[in-house]
Amino acid sequence: MVSAHEAQPPAQPPVRPSTQVLVASNRGPVSYTLGTDGSLDAKRGGGGLVSGLSAVDDKLWVCAALGDGDREAVRRGVGEPGVRMLDIDADVHADAYNGIANSVLWFVHHMLYQTPLEPVFDAEFRRQWASFETYNRAFAEALAEEAEQGAAVLVQDYHLALVPGMLRELRPDLRIGHFSHTPWAPVDYFRLLPDDIAEQLLHGILGADRAAFLTRRWADAFIGCCTQILGGTGHTRIGVHGLGADADFLRRRAHEADVDERMAALREQTGPGRRTIVRVDRTELSKNIVRGLLAYRALLDERPEWRERVVHVAFAYPSRQDLAVYRDYTAEVQRVADEINAVYGTAGWTPVVLHVKDDFARSLAAYRLADVALVNPIRDGMNLVAKEIPVVSDHGCALVLSREAGAYEELGSDAVVVNPYDVSATAAALHEALTMADDERAARTERLAAAAVALPPQQWFLDQLDALRRD
Ligand code: F6P
Repeated sequence: MVSAHEAQPPAQPPVRPSTQVLVASNRGPVSYTLGTDGSLDAKRGGGGLVSGLSAVDDKLWVCAALGDGDREAVRRGVGEPGVRMLDIDADVHADAYNGIANSVLWFVHHMLYQTPLEPVFDAEFRRQWASFETYNRAFAEALAEEAEQGAAVLVQDYHLALVPGMLRELRPDLRIGHFSHTPWAPVDYFRLLPDDIAEQLLHGILGADRAAFLTRRWADAFIGCCTQILGGTGHTRIGVHGLGADADFLRRRAHEADVDERMAALREQTGPGRRTIVRVDRTELSKNIVRGLLAYRALLDERPEWRERVVHVAFAYPSRQDLAVYRDYTAEVQRVADEINAVYGTAGWTPVVLHVKDDFARSLAAYRLADVALVNPIRDGMNLVAKEIPVVSDHGCALVLSREAGAYEELGSDAVVVNPYDVSATAAALHEALTMADDERAARTERLAAAAVALPPQQWFLDQLDALRRD
């Protein structure tokens, strides 16, 4: 007979929950350029995720190789510690990124289709969708291979919407989160997608323990889609984390010498004493830069007293130039800006100062000197420019803000709020912002800045991680 003592299973060391954190995103924190002499030049990116993840020690970032330089870096085994780049077949990646993520999912969530003619879901779409699945599977497999038992995996954005479901099947032990940095489409619009694709996308994200969004509105839209299309959200918990501006970094960086130099150069371009209406965007179809220019033209037209007294400083940095529709939009921004300058400009006054070459120091310079910030997207997950400008503004800045930007939820009460399609109302809002009394503008800027920094990037990231590990 075996005694009770002997019957005990051998003592197991207590299983410590893994501290490892994996992040997965299409674009990683570093990119490589291949020089003509064969050298590889690494460029590190910024943004909320880079800053957020810096709060964690035990981490791995899984991302895709995006260009020739990245692919060469993978082949040579060159890399950053803590980053694994996936060399996914270039054609598969192009189908997944340009074909599905940028041309379908981005369009759906930002409601950008001109529906009489698009979208068209045909055999070509199905072919690209198969690539999108292959690309998502490559991420799921890499994560499954790299993750320790019980690790936390934070999957980013629409590009990787299928990953949580795929990873759950491979590794049921993991804590999986998904975060959407974009809006989520309302159900009637989401239903433009073929039924099986809509279901697959929702099931993909619902493979996560937690699906999180930038605002309550986008979270509710996702819940609405799940409820009406699938009958519910299953076991997946829904979270909201409104990414805020990184005040410490911005305030320090905005007072470095290169920013001061660019402020002087901008002042030179705008002319002394003139008011400035500033916008800073990547030239995405959702940013509504053309209607912003049209509103400015309407202001000059309807209120001639502003001529010679104001300058629209518009920074429209290139984005997704592989897509013809983005190239066309970029050209239209340039065309409308040139037209305004041709019609209204004088010997000593250029009404629109448009810059299209990305320059972070110059963006900060414009943030500091802006009298009015124009943030009028058709639809935007958050829009950090709306949060960053009040934080670094030198003398207070009135914010003209679209009610369709995620930032509206937190900043709406101290902004001049616009319907982004209403050009006349936007022109009136610009006038209101330009004529706001100094003390009111200063007081509003102070409140905007306080709201903007409520959840800095590191806390934003740690909150998600805590919530994922907790429940
Ligand atoms: O702003 C939304 C967003 O999806 C970000 O999460 C992401 O960094 C970016 O857009 C993707 O842009 P790109 O296509 O240039 O990688």
